[in-house]
Amino acid sequence: MARMRFDFDQTKKPELTLTFIRRILNYFKPHTLKLVFVILLILATSALGLVPSLLLQKIVDKALPQHDLTQLSILIGLSISATILLNLLQVAQGYLSTWIAKNITLEMKNNLYRHLTFLPQSFFTTVKEGEILTRLTSDVDGIQQVFQTTFINALSSIFILATTLFALFSMSPILAAVALVTVPLFILPTRKVGKKRWQIASASQTALSRLNQHTQETLNTSGSTLMKLFTKEDESFQTFDQINQEVTALQIKESLAGRWFRMAMSVLMAIGPMLIYLVGGFLLAKGQLTIGGIITFASLLGRLYNPVTQLSNIQVDLMRSFALFERIFEYLDITPEIKNSPTAKELVIQEGEITFENVDFRYEENEVLKNINLHISSGETLALVGLSGAGKSTLTHLLTRLYDPTHGVALIDGQDIKDVTFTSLRQNIGVVSQETFLFNGTIRDNLMYANEQATNEDLIAATKAAYIHDFIMTLPKGYDTVVGNRGIKLSGGEKQRIAIARIILKNPQILILDEATSALDAISEYYVQKAMDNLMQNRTSIVIAHRLSTIANADQIAVMEQGRIVEQGNHHQLVSQAGLYAKLYQTQFKDKEVAA
Ligand SMILES: Nc1ncnc2c1ncn2[C@@H]1O[C@H](COP(=O)(O)OP(=O)(O)O)[C@@H](O)[C@H]1O
Ligand SMILES: [Mg+2]
Repeated sequence: MARMRFDFDQTKKPELTLTFIRRILNYFKPHTLKLVFVILLILATSALGLVPSLLLQKIVDKALPQHDLTQLSILIGLSISATILLNLLQVAQGYLSTWIAKNITLEMKNNLYRHLTFLPQSFFTTVKEGEILTRLTSDVDGIQQVFQTTFINALSSIFILATTLFALFSMSPILAAVALVTVPLFILPTRKVGKKRWQIASASQTALSRLNQHTQETLNTSGSTLMKLFTKEDESFQTFDQINQEVTALQIKESLAGRWFRMAMSVLMAIGPMLIYLVGGFLLAKGQLTIGGIITFASLLGRLYNPVTQLSNIQVDLMRSFALFERIFEYLDITPEIKNSPTAKELVIQEGEITFENVDFRYEENEVLKNINLHISSGETLALVGLSGAGKSTLTHLLTRLYDPTHGVALIDGQDIKDVTFTSLRQNIGVVSQETFLFNGTIRDNLMYANEQATNEDLIAATKAAYIHDFIMTLPKGYDTVVGNRGIKLSGGEKQRIAIARIILKNPQILILDEATSALDAISEYYVQKAMDNLMQNRTSIVIAHRLSTIANADQIAVMEQGRIVEQGNHHQLVSQAGLYAKLYQTQFKDKEVAA
C-alpha cells in the first residue's frame, strides 16, 4: 500500500474537473431554495436600480419643461420609493446570503474536524504545526467570504450589466456603442493588476503562516523552555522580526499595488460621461435624442463600468476560491489510513488473550517489525526487552491500531482486531507510557476523561490504588487543581500516577505499560511501580521496562533486536541462554535493582 505524503504543495493551481465543481456544489445543495431566493432578489435589485435613471429622463424631458409639478412629485416619489425598496431587498439578500455562507462553513468545519479526528497517526507526525488550524479556520472562513463577495458580486454584476446594456441599447444604439468603446480600457488593466495583487497576496499569506508557525513553535510550554535553556531568545526574536518585516513589506506592497491604476480608472470614469455629452450633443442637434436621454445615459455609465471591473477580476477571484476549496478537500481526501471495516463488530473480551501472528510492519520505507509471533494468555504479563529502537513501542501501537501491520494479524480473544470497532478495541486497552497526556484542566477533569460516570468514591479508590490520593490532598485546591499545559505543574512521577489512576478508572482488560517509569527518580519510580502493580492485577499486560523485578516477574519475556524477536522465555531460561538478554541483564537491569 502506498504511503501518503502530507506536505502539500501550496502554490499549485487547482485543477477544475467536473467532480471538483460538483463537490463544491454539493455543499450548496441543502440550501437550494434559499439560493434561488437570493438570485431572485439580486435580479429584482438590479432591475430596480435602473428605475431612478429611467425616471430621470421623464423628469428632464417632460415634468421640468412643462412645469408640471404634480407629475414631477409623482416621478420623484416613484424614484425615491424604488430606491427604498431596492435597499430593503438588499438587506434581505444580505441576510440570506450570510445565512447560507455561515451554514456552509459550519458544515465544512464540522466535517473537517470530524474527519481529522480519524486521521492516521502518521498524518499528525508529518503535518506542519499550525497548518491544521489554518485550514480549519481561515481557509474555511475564506470560503465564506468567497461566496459572499465573489459569487454574489459576480451574479449581481452580470444582472446589472445585462439590464443596463438593454436599457442603453434601446435608448440609443449609437450612444450605447460609444459607451462600450471605453470598456476595454477598464478590463485590460484590471486583469493585470488583479493578477499581480493575487501573487503578492499569496506570498504574504505564505509569509504569514511562517510567522504563525514560528510563534507556535517557540511560544508553547516545551518550546519556550527550550528557548530559555539554550538562551535563544534573541535568535528567536530575530527570526520573528525578519519574517514580520517580510509580511509587513508584502502587505504594504499589496495595498499599494494598483494605485496608479486606480488613479487612471478615476480619470477614465470622469471622461466617460464627457464623451457621452459630446456625442450626445451631435445626436441632440440631429433630433435623435433628448436632453433627458443624454443625462440618463451619463447616469447609467456607472452601472456599466462597475460591473465590468468586478467581472474582469472574476477569474482571479474564482481561482483563489477554488484554491481554498482544494486545500480543504485535500484534507478531506486523506482516507483514514485505518478505518472501521464496514462489517466491524464489537470486540468481545472474555479472557483478554493476545496473539500476534507473522506480523510485519514498516513506517514508510523503514522496516521496523519482522515476523513477530507472540501469545499472551489471559491475565499474564509479557515483558518486552531490547535496545532502544528495537521496535518495542511500535509493536504496542499495532495492538491499539495506531498503525496496522503491513502483514500478519493481531488477535484478541481470537478476534482479528481489524474486524472490530475502534471504540470497542480502545476501550478495552489501557496505555501508560513515558509521555503522559494530561490536558490543561483540573486533576478531576483529567481523571474523569476516562470515565464520565465515575463517582467520587470511584475516583478516590483509583487515586489511592495509584498512590496519588495523599499527594492530591496536600494541594490547596485538591482535585480541583489545574495542572497546566500538558500537566507542566506536576512532577513526572505525579503525572504518571494520575495517568495510572485514570487507567484504573477506565478499567480495561488489557494493559500496555511502555517505559512508564524510565524518566523517574528512584523514589517516584518506587511509587509508580507500586501503582502499576495494583493496576496489573488480573489484567493481560505488555510491559516495556528496564527494571529487573518487573521483567523477572513477568510470565514471559520477549527479547527484541532490530524488529525481530530473538529470544523468548522466562528470566531463568534467558539468563542461562547467555544471549542478548543475559548481556542486557548484566549491563542494564542489574544495577537498576540496587537503586530501587
Ligand atoms: N512515527 C514514526 N515514523 C517513522 N519511524 C518511526 C516512528 N516511530 C518510530 N520509528 C522508528 O521505528 C523504529 C522502532 O522504534 P520504537 O518502536 O519506538 O522502538 P523502541 O520502543 O524499541 O525504542 C526506530 O528505528 C524508530 O526510528
Ligand atoms: Mg519505545
